[in-house]
Amino acid sequence: MFSVRQMCEEDIEFAVQITDTMNWNLTEWDFKFMMSLEPEGCFILLHDSRKIGIATTISFGKVGWIGSVIVDESHRGKGAGSMLVKHAMGYLKSRGVETIGLYSYKENVEFYMRLGFKRETEFTVLKGEPLPSQFQEKSVKVTEKGELQKVIAFDTFHFGASRRKLLEKIANMRGNLCYHYIEEREILGYAMAKVYNHYAEIGPLVCLEGHLEAAEALLKTLLNKLRGFEVSMVVSGKEEKLLKMLLETGFSAEFNVVRMFSKPLAFKDCIYIAESLERG
Ligand SMILES: CC(C)(COP(=O)(O)OP(=O)(O)OC[C@H]1O[C@@H](n2cnc3c(N)ncnc32)[C@H](O)[C@@H]1OP(=O)(O)O)[C@@H](O)C(=O)NCCC(=O)NCCS
Repeated sequence: MFSVRQMCEEDIEFAVQITDTMNWNLTEWDFKFMMSLEPEGCFILLHDSRKIGIATTISFGKVGWIGSVIVDESHRGKGAGSMLVKHAMGYLKSRGVETIGLYSYKENVEFYMRLGFKRETEFTVLKGEPLPSQFQEKSVKVTEKGELQKVIAFDTFHFGASRRKLLEKIANMRGNLCYHYIEEREILGYAMAKVYNHYAEIGPLVCLEGHLEAAEALLKTLLNKLRGFEVSMVVSGKEEKLLKMLLETGFSAEFNVVRMFSKPLAFKDCIYIAESLERG
């Protein structure tokens, strides 16, 4: 019989093992981070007492996100994955979430549609090593502690819910990068990068619709700092010019995912790079 329970520290090794089968590159640190953000919202799927799957969630007030959904290959096609996702959805609803988002592989879109999700924008996962370049733009500023609250307010307006608990953690972690683009005292956009040993993930990046120059300047500033790192990011397919710029500067498109939502969007139109596939 299938059942779902809360993930605990002892399950992390299993979570890393099962997600490695999909090459998601998630480490023990990633699961500890998810559990610190949503202690009751990370789940283990069981067949009797055997661990056969996982899913993670994060709640941001009225918006929630589901990530890392996986069922052991030998148990697929028997309803376990649906049960796991429904459990995650139930948890998020119990936290007051009204709209749930997720990124789906194209081949799983139908699976999520059966669970009530609707497809929205396509995103491209990019990977590459930034090419050497000299870039400086006076409108791009390092986001110091005092300005972080303004950046979070800007993000909340566009995301449709407060991601404070996530953004504060990212911004305050040593080594990570956070910049905003400001003109006449108005923030036009911001971008962060999570920096690990030899690997970095850019995201989130949020800029006012129509301000491609801000998005490009923020990205170039980050890429300049990330020389020598393998960098990845999840870019909205709507941003054709941004994608073109990245493809021309040494990035390659790895695969596409589809952003899906359980209810109509809270998002405002904006230039958007995901924080991560797991958390929106
Ligand atoms: C996607 C996944 C979690 C689904 O788990 P599962 O246990 O196989 O799902 P279920 O058995 O509950 O599937 C429910 C229904 O959807 C169908 N289904 C499952 N995956 C499907 C897919 N990719 N496309 C279309 N239908 C699918 C099943 O056949 C089943 O149909 P039925 O109700 O008519 O029998 C599982 O295939 C998996 O772990 N895949 C690898 C990791 C992955 O891709 N994760 C998702 C990241 S977006």
